[in-house]
Amino acid sequence: HRHLTGIEGLQPHEISFLLDEAEGWIAANRDRAAPDKRLAGLTQINAFFENSTRTLLSFEIAGKRLGADVVNMHAAQSSVKKGETLIDTAMTLNAMRADVLVIRHMSSGAVRLIADKVDCPVLNAGDGRHEHPTQALLDALTIRRRRGTIHNQRVVICGDVLHSRVARSNILALTALAAEVRVCAPSTLMPPAIDRMGVTPFADFDAALEGADVVMMLRLQTERMSGGYVPSSREYRLRYGLTPERLARAKPDALVMHPGPMNRGVEIDSSVADHPERSAITEQVEMGVAVRMACLDVLTRRARGVEGWA
Ligand code: CP
Repeated sequence: HRHLTGIEGLQPHEISFLLDEAEGWIAANRDRAAPDKRLAGLTQINAFFENSTRTLLSFEIAGKRLGADVVNMHAAQSSVKKGETLIDTAMTLNAMRADVLVIRHMSSGAVRLIADKVDCPVLNAGDGRHEHPTQALLDALTIRRRRGTIHNQRVVICGDVLHSRVARSNILALTALAAEVRVCAPSTLMPPAIDRMGVTPFADFDAALEGADVVMMLRLQTERMSGGYVPSSREYRLRYGLTPERLARAKPDALVMHPGPMNRGVEIDSSVADHPERSAITEQVEMGVAVRMACLDVLTRRARGVEGWA
């Protein structure tokens, strides 16, 4: 693979390989005594056409820890605002001889479009409702470390599945690694062909939670709900909010996850999100840096004359 545009198309052993590579960076991040600058001399451009806190910063930190020259392009301050097209923007970045591009865009498929036009590896940092592959990898790594395995883990993904690239990439990664995936959403926020993805759909959150090993909560993506039904925060929390009472239906040691940003008091109560033993939300962020270091390293290997990937 030259690019990482999605989890789709990756074999289970390739996903596990990326997780193993990321595992190696966790200790390096905690103890930065002898930094490994293997990306020194390479230019990494992070082109973000949509807002981000975690993904942008962790890609920037990941690149810098590996010694790359990292440049961020924020669409709001770029010539995109003057009407420049996506392709022209991509060709401009390509002409600057970037060695790796990290792209976030509000349109599904935009990252693939750019990947087909440029000479360097492209990493998808989230494209519309399509995929967010590094998020799924960091989630899988968090589950593997905290639960010991992904195989046969009952993972409940609850919330706005329809608009969620995080849900889509997680479903692809977790089913590939043989987890039992349940998805739960109001009917208006459930993708129509969800049962073709090898998951079990639920409308009743209480039923979905029975025996869960992992509960992954999603935000209502109101910015993507053009004209559709938007539930009120109060009614949404009543049926789909993760409260301490609801969490009691899952296994006693079930893990609570959220990709962020959270809407506290809507899809998740603060006492659950901040639970010292059950919540893995800050660990997910830590895993994000390690996973992005692994992806940047692996995808630039060919350019660095190191044996390539898969
Ligand atoms: N989880 C995630 O993608 O967060 P950001 O939108 O802050 O990058």
